[in-house]
Order: sequence, then C-alpha cells, then structure tokens
Amino acid sequence: MADRVIAACERSLSRLGTDRLDCYLLHWRGRIPLSETFAGFEQLTRSGKILAWGVSNFDVPDLDEALHIAGPGKIACNQVLYNLEERAIEHEVIPWCDRHGTAVVAYSPFGHGNFPGEHSPAGRVLAEIAAAHDATSRQVALAFLARLTFVIPKASSSKHAGENAAAGDLKLSDIELARIDAAFPRGPKPAGLPML
Ligand SMILES: NC(=O)c1ccc[n+]([C@@H]2O[C@H](COP(=O)([O-])OP(=O)(O)OC[C@H]3O[C@@H](n4cnc5c(N)ncnc54)[C@H](OP(=O)(O)O)[C@@H]3O)[C@@H](O)[C@H]2O)c1
Repeated sequence: MADRVIAACERSLSRLGTDRLDCYLLHWRGRIPLSETFAGFEQLTRSGKILAWGVSNFDVPDLDEALHIAGPGKIACNQVLYNLEERAIEHEVIPWCDRHGTAVVAYSPFGHGNFPGEHSPAGRVLAEIAAAHDATSRQVALAFLARLTFVIPKASSSKHAGENAAAGDLKLSDIELARIDAAFPRGPKPAGLPML
C-alpha cells in the first residue's frame, strides 16, 4: 500500500530528525507490488518529503519492470554490489542504467571486509599503482570503480572518510586501468545479480 510506504518514510524522517530526504530507496524487491511502492514514492515527492527516489539490488528484468511502471526519468539510482572482485554489474546493469539516466551507486566497494591483501598478486598490483601516486590501495580501488559508478564506502573514522574522499582526485592512466582490469577480471555474467 502506498500509505505504508509513506508511513515508513515518515518514521525514518522522525528517527533522523529531518523533514526531507534527498533520495529514498527501495532496499530490494519484496512481496509488495512495485506499483504500490512507487505510488508512495511519488506521493512523498509531491509532498516534498523526498526529493528523489531509487531502487537497490535490481537486476535488468527488475529495472525493465520498474521503468514500465514508473515511466522514464523517475528512477534516480540503482544501488548494487560492486567491487574489484565482484564486477557482474558491468555486463548489463550499468549499460541499462546509462541508457535510462539512472545513476549506479556501488555498495560495499571494499568487498565488505574482504579487501585484497597486499601480499596477494592482485593486491600487489594495487599497491604498486598506489605507490606511484603517493596514494593508498583503497584509493586506487575507489578511483577504478568510480569511473562507472558513485561509490559509497562505509567508514567509521574521519581518517578513513577523508582518505576515501581524496580518491576523487586520483587520475589513473590507461595502462594502470588495464593492469587493474587484468588483475581483477570481470568474469562471465552470472545467472543472477550478486547481492549481500
Ligand atoms: N543496498 C544494499 O543492499 C547494501 C548492502 C550492503 C551494504 N550496503 C551499503 O554499502 C556501504 C558500504 O558497505 P560495507 O560496509 O558492506 O563495506 P565496504 O564499504 O566495502 O567496507 C567497509 C570496511 O572498509 C573499512 N574502510 C573504509 N575506509 C577505509 C580506509 N580508508 N582504510 C582502511 N579501511 C577502510 C571500514 O572500516 P572502518 O569502519 O573502520 O572505517 C569497513 O571495515 C554501507 O553504506 C552500506 O549501508 C548496502
């Protein structure tokens, strides 16, 4: 029901102590029909409680259905799993989002606690590239992923948050990008969309 979506958003606004959200997401597909959820999102947009809305963990068939229901220009973003060792979305999800003006937001860009160690062959590639830029391996990873997506690393210290934000200034050469691409191959398209 659209009413339940609105009530859920109002509870979030109250918990956060704010009167509006910039972008409100459907975390994943559930039992409630998309038409009802999106009707709620549109009502929240009209009342100014959210400025935009998006989805999360949507594969291409879900995106097609969402677009059919919502119409063009409505789905602000699709938040999906993306890191150096999980590049499945490059096959079809990113191209779909590019075609339809939907931003791709990359969650768990550091592999959700499994960042490549500096002693692994692929981790050494990152470390070498990082050293050439006086940067860190994590900044190199973010710079690679941020070419196609908006990355949202989780960081619980200002030191980590600052280091991650500074990755936005890092420019990798074509040769460096090719080395990372070879060290962390995209692999074949999996049957379903990977998610956490
Ligand atoms: N839509 C979805 O279904 C979904 C699912 C999962 C996650 N997410 C979202 O994705 C975001 C991140 O995901 P995540 O927590 O799974 O994993 P992540 O961002 O891949 O990794 C977070 C880990 O990296 C560490 N880290 C961050 N910056 C660092 C730095 N500069 N140097 C060293 N370590 C650093 C963090 O440590 P510290 O905490 O110590 O900084 C934390 O242990 C979250 O905002 C989460 O809400 C969304």
